[in-house]
This record gives sequence, C-alpha cells and structure tokens, in this order.
Amino acid sequence: MLYVTTINNKFLELNFKLKYVRICNYIDERKEVEKIIMRIRFKAWARPELEASQFYIDNPEDYKGRWKKLFGNNKPIQVELGCGKGNFISKKAIQNRDTNFIAIDLVDAMLGLAKRNIEETYNKEKQEIDNVYITRYDIERIFNIFSNEDDIDRIYINFCNPWPRGKHHKKRLTHIRQLMKYRDFLKDGGEIYFKTDDDALFIDSLTYFEKSGYKILDKTNDLEEQPDFWDNIMTEHEKMFMDQGIKIKALKAQKMEIMEEK
Ligand SMILES: C[S@@+](CC[C@H](N)C(=O)[O-])C[C@H]1O[C@@H](n2cnc3c(N)ncnc32)[C@H](O)[C@@H]1O
Repeated sequence: MLYVTTINNKFLELNFKLKYVRICNYIDERKEVEKIIMRIRFKAWARPELEASQFYIDNPEDYKGRWKKLFGNNKPIQVELGCGKGNFISKKAIQNRDTNFIAIDLVDAMLGLAKRNIEETYNKEKQEIDNVYITRYDIERIFNIFSNEDDIDRIYINFCNPWPRGKHHKKRLTHIRQLMKYRDFLKDGGEIYFKTDDDALFIDSLTYFEKSGYKILDKTNDLEEQPDFWDNIMTEHEKMFMDQGIKIKALKAQKMEIMEEK
C-alpha cells in the first residue's frame, strides 16, 4: 500500500514539474512576442482607420472557405504572411490586377501603415482598391481563417522573424509545424515564395520545406545577383538589410502530394 502511494506521489510530482516547465516556456515565448510588438511604436490612429476601411477585414474567421465570394470573382488568391508596412503587397497587388491578394499581420500599427501605403499606391494610379484585403491575425492560428475551399494559389513569406534560439524554432513561419498548416489551404501545385536575410533560417527552411512535402523549385543565396529569379519587389526589411550589405536568400517551393506510407 505504502509502495503504491509513493509511486502515486512521484507520478504527481513529475506531472507537476512537467506542467511547470511548459508554463515557463509559454511565458518565455509570450515575452519574446511582446518585445517585438513593443519595438513597433503604437499608432493611435491605426485602429479607427482600419475599422473604417473598406479593405480591412476585422473578422477573418467569418470568411474561412468564403474568400472567393468576398472578392466576388474567381481570380487566383495569393496571401502575404507578415506584411509589415505593406510596401510589397501594395505594389504586388496593383501590378497584378488579375490576381486577388490577402495580407496578414499581427500588429495594428503595421496594418495601419499598410492601409495608407495601399491607398497611396492605388490613388496615384487612379485605380479602385478591389483586389486586396488586409487583416489582423496570428499566423500560428491561420487554419482558422483559410480552408481548402479557398484554394490559395501562392503564399509570400518575406523576412519573417528568424527566431534564432532553438526552443523558439517552432515559431518560425517556415517551420514544419507551419508549413503543414499551409498545406490545408494551398491548392495542389500551389507555391510558397520565401525570402530572408538570415542564413541559419534559410538553411533550416530548405529542410523544413522538403520534410513537409514541398519541392524546392529554385533557390538563390544572392537575390540581387539573379534579377531573373522572380519579378522582385523590395520590402522595407529587404532594403534595410541590403543597405547593410547583407545578401538576400530566396526560394520558390511547390506543394507536392504526400504519399501515405502503407
Ligand atoms: C520582420 S517583419 C517583416 C515585414 C515585411 N514582410 C518586410 O519584409 O519588410 C515581420 C512582420 O511579421 C509580423 N508577424 C510576426 N509574427 C506574426 C504572426 N505570428 N502573425 C502575424 N504577423 C506576424 C510582424 O508584426 C511584422 O510586421
């Protein structure tokens, strides 16, 4: 009897320790996210401006499986993850009027700047903003806002946070954990275009893509040296890193079928 009670106590103690470690890791990760958010200066105008905007979506979960309906046409849909100030999406969308775009970020201040950027770009060209939406959402939970019915054509990941510490790798937007989520709404043969300044993230990502059932179609360790790689649009971070002489690494990956093991 005494023996059983001792084992029981040991088990409870171990369980408690495991829970404690998990809570500590969680707090640690949240602190990292909060630090990033704090670095971006708060912009009081951003939230009211976004809420008043015709092309800002406040409730993206309501559109899961219904994005085509929202756009009101059957044009292919491409998604930018972590759009920042919107330099990329504003140019990409106006240059590709035959494609629809959705840009996602976690931070109001960034989305507010992206909204202004898009408006300025479209106004200059006297174009109606009808092929782009922006929304605030945590990409880690992206499965709540897209489904296979959305049939997403391409995803852009530009200069996502490299999360250099091993225990944070799973938070990378190109980590296997994320790439598997994207498979659920990326169409068969759909693509992911990824660029980064970070060598370690790039090297690890090559493995992440291959392990998650994507084929690397093309890659470069110096995007500037390969002007034909794709129709490049420089992002805010890309400019900053290039000014520092850092080479930009890029890849194109394609979703392949995963063969079930028998
Ligand atoms: C380093 S910046 C890059 C911005 C832009 N793509 C560029 O190349 O200049 C990363 C952006 O991703 C956003 N971000 C990071 N983690 C995110 C997440 N889990 N969900 C949504 N956005 C996220 C940040 O708010 C930030 O705007």
